[in-house]
Amino acid sequence: MTKKMNVLVIGSGAREHALAWALSRSAVVETVHAAPGNPGMKDVAVIHPVQDTDLRSLLPIINRENIRMAVIGPEAPLTAGLADDLRAAGILAFGPGREGALLEGSKSHAKKFMDRHGIPTARWDLCTTAEEARSALDSRHAPFVVKADGLAAGKGVVVTQSREEALDAARGMLERGRHGEAGKKIVIEDGLAGDELTILALTDGTTYRLLSPSQDHKRAFDGDKGPNTGGMGAYSPVPWLGSELLEKICSRVLSPTVEGLKKDGIPYCGVIYAGLMIDGKGEPSVIEYNVRFGDPEAQVVLPVLEGDFAELLLACCESRLSEIKWKDPSRWAVDVVIASGGYPGHFEKGKKIEGLEKASELEDFVIFHGGTERSDDGCLVTSGGRVLSAVGLGNSLTDALKKAYEGVSLISFDGMHFRRDIGRKALL
Ligand code: AMP
Ligand code: GLY
Repeated sequence: MTKKMNVLVIGSGAREHALAWALSRSAVVETVHAAPGNPGMKDVAVIHPVQDTDLRSLLPIINRENIRMAVIGPEAPLTAGLADDLRAAGILAFGPGREGALLEGSKSHAKKFMDRHGIPTARWDLCTTAEEARSALDSRHAPFVVKADGLAAGKGVVVTQSREEALDAARGMLERGRHGEAGKKIVIEDGLAGDELTILALTDGTTYRLLSPSQDHKRAFDGDKGPNTGGMGAYSPVPWLGSELLEKICSRVLSPTVEGLKKDGIPYCGVIYAGLMIDGKGEPSVIEYNVRFGDPEAQVVLPVLEGDFAELLLACCESRLSEIKWKDPSRWAVDVVIASGGYPGHFEKGKKIEGLEKASELEDFVIFHGGTERSDDGCLVTSGGRVLSAVGLGNSLTDALKKAYEGVSLISFDGMHFRRDIGRKALL
């Protein structure tokens, strides 16, 4: 039996709330700490509202609270090398170091990696001038896909039917400084068609284990209409994903990714997030890698996980994931994201949130906070675009869906909006 440990979750969104929640249910965790955390986490974690998430800001907390393992939620501290810094300071860190995080931090790096290791992905060109972008677009047909090479808070990808719009997006990045440094180089690639799927794998750099497959809903409005968002909801597992396709995803994507990292000499402890497109013939291609849990995918994948989450992460940190027994999930989860009016465009903050207490009494329902804060008079108010993740659980997708929307119906704030069709595609 592992000695009980204190753990630290780094980040402040609904994904990090879900991480803290899952860790708090572990038999090997004494106390969960979160930095900077959010007000919704207070039932599962001790909150440390730090300004920055670099080693200097975190070390006092780590020392004072005797933290054994840190779990890094967002991509920015990972690409900044926080996991390397923590490990150098003798703390177990779940998350890849700077080099591994480049799979998300640079699209061209990820593309070269996939080409080098024979992992299927859209044909691509690297462009640094508008002239190169024009010629890359001329050699393709719609839909046109333009991507800032670096991190752009999920806003660096443009997919459009219009060549003019694609060229304008490319010029915006290359010539007008849109996305700053991140847009100084861009990737132009072939448009892929099919169904999108998220596969999250935990790895210690040698073996990997798949978490329950999930599907995000990127567009703001029902029927996949409207602008792209950070994700308006998700469900897990995915009923149309059979064992044959899953095996193909492992043999063509996940195994060569883990082996490729090894061949390249890059140690990797953390999540490999494969954003996949499955074409009409059932062939997978990688749209993108992320080096962390997805948001909102974590909010559905963690509640259906069988087994002890902290034990799993610890096994990754200690390079002994192969010892861990694995069970497929038996339950379903649906996350409906409740967003501020106007999101992903301009939205107002400070709207008073009602009904959370009532909702928390529901069985098989859990709320993760993404954009909330306490106002001066102690009320819980909105402070971000994606305010809450309302997660329903059940023994079928239908039950989980009903539960999620039952919970949503109890919650209200001025201007709130959410999609009413999360998971509906999967029922057809
Ligand atoms: P990302 O911000 O990298 O997650 O990309 C945002 C979204 O753009 C993806 O979830 C896809 O829906 C879409 N996308 C990215 N690359 C392609 C592609 N090559 N073909 C079609 N859609 C794409
Ligand atoms: N759900 C998409 C992401 O986490 O990047």
